[in-house]
Amino acid sequence: MHGATREAVFPHRHLLGIEGLSPEDINHVLDLADGYVELSRQAEKKRALLRGRTIINCFFENSTRTRTSFEVAGKRLGGDVINMSVAASSMHKGETLIDTAMTLNAMHPDVLIVRHPESGAVQLLSEKLDCAVINAGDGSHEHPTQALLDALTIRRRKGRLGGLTVAICGDVLHSRVARSNIALLNTMGARVRVVAPRTLLPAEIERLGVEVFYDMAEGLADVDIVMMLRLQSERMHGAFVPSTREYFHFFGLDYDKLRAAKPDALIMHPGPMNRGVEIGSEVADDIDRSLIRQQVEMGVAVRMACLEILTRDLGNGPPSMAGY
Ligand code: NCD
Repeated sequence: MHGATREAVFPHRHLLGIEGLSPEDINHVLDLADGYVELSRQAEKKRALLRGRTIINCFFENSTRTRTSFEVAGKRLGGDVINMSVAASSMHKGETLIDTAMTLNAMHPDVLIVRHPESGAVQLLSEKLDCAVINAGDGSHEHPTQALLDALTIRRRKGRLGGLTVAICGDVLHSRVARSNIALLNTMGARVRVVAPRTLLPAEIERLGVEVFYDMAEGLADVDIVMMLRLQSERMHGAFVPSTREYFHFFGLDYDKLRAAKPDALIMHPGPMNRGVEIGSEVADDIDRSLIRQQVEMGVAVRMACLEILTRDLGNGPPSMAGY
């Protein structure tokens, strides 16, 4: 495919966030990902599309499912995937983010997948690198592939995104998943609610285009999708909730609270789950209503689609070390 065509289909060099994507961009990723769901269910799932390409997973923060999901996606498309666990590397020897970027750049990767504890760090890196960059989560800012996989999961089950009412519940304050999902669902014409105690909501959250509820029974009334968020204790300095027991009593999802939602409402959670804190085990494991396992499956397909899109006819730009 020629550069010009690629530009027209998905006019972005990186995937840093959902903000800035159009409904067409989002549908393009989801349509492509649908095909990769089918491929991934076959015994022979390998393609040669990314043969010869180097993908570096660069995680400055711990992760199991997202890192593995990108690794499976890259390998399934025939690329070479290298995992860099930066927690145990030079960052701790005092190297700056930019030095790390320059080092990686010199290895000529085609795609860099970055997770970082600081909001904005991935964008900064993308400005210094010659390759495509995918944000795998930056601080409490964005986690675009999570929102895309959630959208694919909903679209496949409900047949659409537009017109649905989605309640995002829990620790919205610390959640990049919530921010990316709010942006995506609003772009696609869904109605978004957030349900949380006041201490776990950012100031002026209404500005993001959501309806705010402080009570689960009210917030879940007649919703199509209940999206639960993990209580991110590792990002909290000080006490945001009195106790996890009390939190579960008021905001943890169980059948009692779920009764307020539509009878066919579906349950989602990005993982990792804290059972008995934000979600009860019976609802999490309810095979008719919980989409949590499907979310993981859709994650690989969505990441395959993103890798395909961002490596199409890269042209590789001007080599920054030309003449060296
Ligand atoms: C999320 C994350 O890391 O932002 N997890 C994930 O990517 N599946 C949410 C979380 O950590 O709670």
